[in-house]
Amino acid sequence: MPKFQRLYPLLAVAVLSLGSAGVAFSDWGEREEHEEDERHEGRGGWLRPRADVAPVSNPTYAEECGACHMAYQPGLLPAAAWARVMEPSALTDHYGDDASLSEALRQELATYLTGNAANFDSRTRSRAFAVSMASAGSTGGTLPRISTTGYFLRKHDEIPPRMVKDNPEVGSFSQCNNCHQGAAKGVYNDDQVRIPGYGRWED
Ligand code: HEC
Ligand code: HEC
Repeated sequence: MPKFQRLYPLLAVAVLSLGSAGVAFSDWGEREEHEEDERHEGRGGWLRPRADVAPVSNPTYAEECGACHMAYQPGLLPAAAWARVMEPSALTDHYGDDASLSEALRQELATYLTGNAANFDSRTRSRAFAVSMASAGSTGGTLPRISTTGYFLRKHDEIPPRMVKDNPEVGSFSQCNNCHQGAAKGVYNDDQVRIPGYGRWED
């Protein structure tokens, strides 16, 4: 038997082990990107993208906190940030608006938000929001925002102001659902972005 034929099985083993090393590496290094690949290839697949954060499951929350903007999924901020947003004094001066609630309602919604917060949601995007808020440390006197977390800023740094705050159909980065067509269902992947007046987002 010529020597080179015996090389094939060896090569196969080498290629296979390289492949699995690659997977292990991306698992440790780039969890976030790894998850995006999964979305395309497996699990939910092409037809039904898996929600990036768990959808809102509390109808009272959906109604009360969805009156002026979309009801943000609890998995978009860690518990400490939600607790801060839900302080009575913070609700009366809520990003310039009055969003105060009766004490019973405030407690109910605060419990829902903190109990389902980003740090308790195992989905990758929630983890990313939790980690990037935690590493931002104390925000001083200002209320925490989803749209100022490091993760959020990184994902939106290529979008110019004319498409956002100078775009009357968007208004601000707080209006997730004006651009993310699946936002209400917790789907934020970049295949389902349409910026009003500009159309589909192409990377
Ligand atoms: C009376 C209207 C109103 C109600 C009711 C309201 N909000 Fe808001 N909320 C606002 C405004 C205005 C902003 C700032 C939006 C902007 O900067 O464009 C805001 C911003 C936010 C943000 C920051 C969004 C970002 O940019 O990351 C969070 C979080 C938030 N609200 C949570 C809540 C929760 C939780 C409730 C229910 C307790 C609630 N809101 C109810 C008016 C409201
Ligand atoms: C002006 C339109 C606009 C608004 C408003 C907006 N986004 Fe985005 N978002 C985008 C675009 C465009 C991308 C893709 C950016 C890219 O791939 O370079 C994106 C990407 C993302 C990603 C990463 C998706 C991926 O596949 O990597 C997340 C998560 C996300 N947005 C969450 C939010 C949340 C939460 C809000 C509201 C607090 C929000 N976005 C508001 C336009 C918007």
